[in-house]
Amino acid sequence: MSHAQSFIRAHLPVTPVPGIVDVHLHKAGPSSGVGRWAAEGPPPYWAFWWAGGLALAQHLQACPALVAGRRVLDLGAGSGLVAIVAARMGAAGVAASEVDAHGRAAIALNATLNGVILEDIVGDVMNAPSPAVDVILAGDLFYAPDVAARVVPFLDGCVASGIEVLVGDPGRSPLPRDRLTFLARYQVAETGAPKPAAVYAYRGAGPYPVA
Ligand SMILES: C[S@@+](CC[C@H](N)C(=O)[O-])C[C@H]1O[C@@H](n2cnc3c(N)ncnc32)[C@H](O)[C@@H]1O
Repeated sequence: MSHAQSFIRAHLPVTPVPGIVDVHLHKAGPSSGVGRWAAEGPPPYWAFWWAGGLALAQHLQACPALVAGRRVLDLGAGSGLVAIVAARMGAAGVAASEVDAHGRAAIALNATLNGVILEDIVGDVMNAPSPAVDVILAGDLFYAPDVAARVVPFLDGCVASGIEVLVGDPGRSPLPRDRLTFLARYQVAETGAPKPAAVYAYRGAGPYPVA
């Protein structure tokens, strides 16, 4: 077990995920001390669940046929929540892409915790050709303009090569609305009181104003 995984197991309590049936994750609390990682590298987004991922996870539990028997990539996986639910819903194979190495350590722990096997846990795949999957799931990946500016052309290419893409998002400003078709809305408890977040089909091409 890596140093990061030992830290996560010791300091991030296993917590049930609100609204998601039978999934638990290591989640940071006030005394977890994950701020030390923010000082050294990217913010520890993986230590929390996010509204977009919660909506996508609820949608997969409501509509398992979206992933059952299909090869899935969770793009910007964070804690691995969406990948774990896709695996639970019978995906033929699930990979998780997370740019933060500490996040990849957390994803591996969280997968084991929930009794699922992820085929691959990888870093940034967005400079590579479209992956060999049937479905890409992007939970709360449009959280910053610079990230969205990379995600949009990558997903455009994936859709053009025949991959289905689903996006979960609470309505953040970099969301490329001109490329999305609304599918469903869920109440999600990211922090505190529940708030709405939506699931969309990502259609691809179209003018997108890069901020
Ligand atoms: C807001 S969090 C959402 C995490 C998770 N999908 C969820 O909904 O709970 C976005 C995640 O995307 C990751 N990320 C950002 N750019 C990425 C990239 N180029 N490749 C893979 N992951 C990336 C961040 O490190 C972060 O963990």
